[in-house]
Amino acid sequence: MVRTRFTEEFGVRYPLVQGGMQWVGRAPLVAAVANAGALGFLTALTQPTPDELRAEIARCRELTDQPFGVNLTILPTINPPPYAEYRQAIIDSGVRIVETAGSNPAEHLQHFHAHGIKVIHKCTSVRHAVKAQSLGVDAVSIDGFECAGHPGEDDIPGLVLIPAAADRITVPMLASGGFADGRGLVAALALGADGISMGTRWMATVESGIHEKVKQRLVEAEERDTQLIFRQLRNTARVADNEVSREVVRRLNEGAAFEEVRDLVAGARGVKVYETGDVEHGIWSAGMVQTLIRDIPTCAELVERIIGEAGAVIRERLASALEPAAPVGA
Ligand SMILES: Cc1cc2nc3c(=O)[nH]c(=O)nc-3n(C[C@H](O)[C@H](O)[C@H](O)COP(=O)(O)O)c2cc1C
Repeated sequence: MVRTRFTEEFGVRYPLVQGGMQWVGRAPLVAAVANAGALGFLTALTQPTPDELRAEIARCRELTDQPFGVNLTILPTINPPPYAEYRQAIIDSGVRIVETAGSNPAEHLQHFHAHGIKVIHKCTSVRHAVKAQSLGVDAVSIDGFECAGHPGEDDIPGLVLIPAAADRITVPMLASGGFADGRGLVAALALGADGISMGTRWMATVESGIHEKVKQRLVEAEERDTQLIFRQLRNTARVADNEVSREVVRRLNEGAAFEEVRDLVAGARGVKVYETGDVEHGIWSAGMVQTLIRDIPTCAELVERIIGEAGAVIRERLASALEPAAPVGA
């Protein structure tokens, strides 16, 4: 048992979260995470329409009676999806917890709060966490440079970012990016967080719906096997190292415009990776933490393992460090 402000205020058994994951955060995974005692988030924009999101939330309810949430990622795009309609689908479906990410959540926050929905805002810098807190979010999730997906442009790793944020944040705070095991959970708690949010680790579980070859690739990959794409566009994303991501980096380094890599980075190409298991086919998100992934457990096994390891680290490794030293010469 590991109890924190996060577990108490959000009504989950363990301080473990599965953050939003485009193409991956679907009902079977989210329900398995919830049934294991952690908090999972369906990814709203993985569903092509708001009505399909309603159906996915209903499907998740059939698979679990435990709390789960929905991630709403607000991205700066030329043709934005109908965010207000996705938001309404979340509200109408009676979801109690939302993870917002991407941009300032102010507009959505007031609607969610008006319906008693708690909001966890994900950010990648202390200043954005402080801003989100001042807007009234119920918790923040702070993503270090290690993370899969969008680490921001500041490149501050969790070891500095988490305690720096903890010094300024009074609402419950999740640490995200680079976590996969009980050591990480204890480290995050020691740095001032109230729990951890993971992405990449949940991809390599039995219930994650991606192709087995992608899960296997995560087991084999090491910490250096990611690429940062879109640095030049100030929209950095950490993705799996493959021929396509290397080509995107190469072209942008040579001064290519976004138009010249658009086909390579197309979402339709990336989603094929998860469907077919061809890990070289397109761009897909993965974090450095893949080096710590050595198997493909069920979500329940993973959660029990992380909590068990965390308890052992606290009781044995840390407690023994406090024991008085044996007298010299004894
Ligand atoms: C496949 C994948 C897709 C992701 N898609 C999203 C997304 O749509 N929205 C979002 O807020 N974060 C997204 N993320 C980021 C995760 O929610 C989480 O912050 C990140 O994975 C934490 O880093 P880790 O992978 O080292 O655990 C994604 C991560 C992965 C691995």
